[in-house]
Amino acid sequence: MGFLSMIILCIIGMVFKDVIALPCLSNDSKTKFDATRKALTDLQTSINNRVTHLQTDMKNKMKKLDDQMGYLQTDMKNRIKKLDEGMGSLVSDFQKKQWRKYNGHCYYFGSEALTWFKSEQRCRQIGGHLAKIDDEAENKWIMDNKTVKNHLWMGLTDLKEGEYRWSYDQTLAKYKPWYSGWGSKGTGYNCGLMFQPTYTWLDYSCTSQYPYVCESHICY
Ligand SMILES: *[C@@H]1O[C@H](CO)[C@@H](O)[C@H](O)[C@H]1NC(C)=O
Ligand SMILES: *[C@@H]1O[C@H](CO)[C@@H](O)[C@H](O)[C@H]1NC(C)=O
Repeated sequence: MGFLSMIILCIIGMVFKDVIALPCLSNDSKTKFDATRKALTDLQTSINNRVTHLQTDMKNKMKKLDDQMGYLQTDMKNRIKKLDEGMGSLVSDFQKKQWRKYNGHCYYFGSEALTWFKSEQRCRQIGGHLAKIDDEAENKWIMDNKTVKNHLWMGLTDLKEGEYRWSYDQTLAKYKPWYSGWGSKGTGYNCGLMFQPTYTWLDYSCTSQYPYVCESHICY
């Protein structure tokens, strides 16, 4: 046997020795290992099943929610449509019946007695403003055609004492047919009231409640 063969044998011997020296699993520890492995595999399967179940469940729930949302949207649309139709006919009915035309503008006589501020608010809600009366003819037309037998609020105020402006555009009033002795009653009397049965006006307490006359530049 040559020297080289001796060395090769020696190396093989060393490697072989390492291999057989690997610790062998005893029957007992192998059983334990197998049991652990099986438990882990079972756990993995169970987790996978649970995840799949949750995903399916979630998908079904999302689909149901989608369906419900879709239904709600359709329902809402129909309701809004109905409401619009209702409002449309209500508004056009109201507008046709109640507004009276004079000189290209339209006038509405509110019969409910309200404060000056509420009256202005009501006029704005129906698409107008408290009437801005520019001349004697308009003043006369309102008084002669009003459907309410009472004094009427109109859009005149002097929130800055003595400076009468129209609520419609805040312009200074030029035409002001005050009833004798009125028009400068002081800081407690800031709102313009048409004084029936005369064709004159009073400066009156804004919190008093009277019917009112609205004006709109658009006739419906
Ligand atoms: C290991 O288990 C096998 C099969 O169950 C059996 O044949 C063998 O005798 C057991 N060996 C030892 C050392 O217990
Ligand atoms: C409306 O007012 C005008 C102008 O004052 C008058 O000629 C007319 O008769 C009035 N109309 C009604 C229905 O009272």
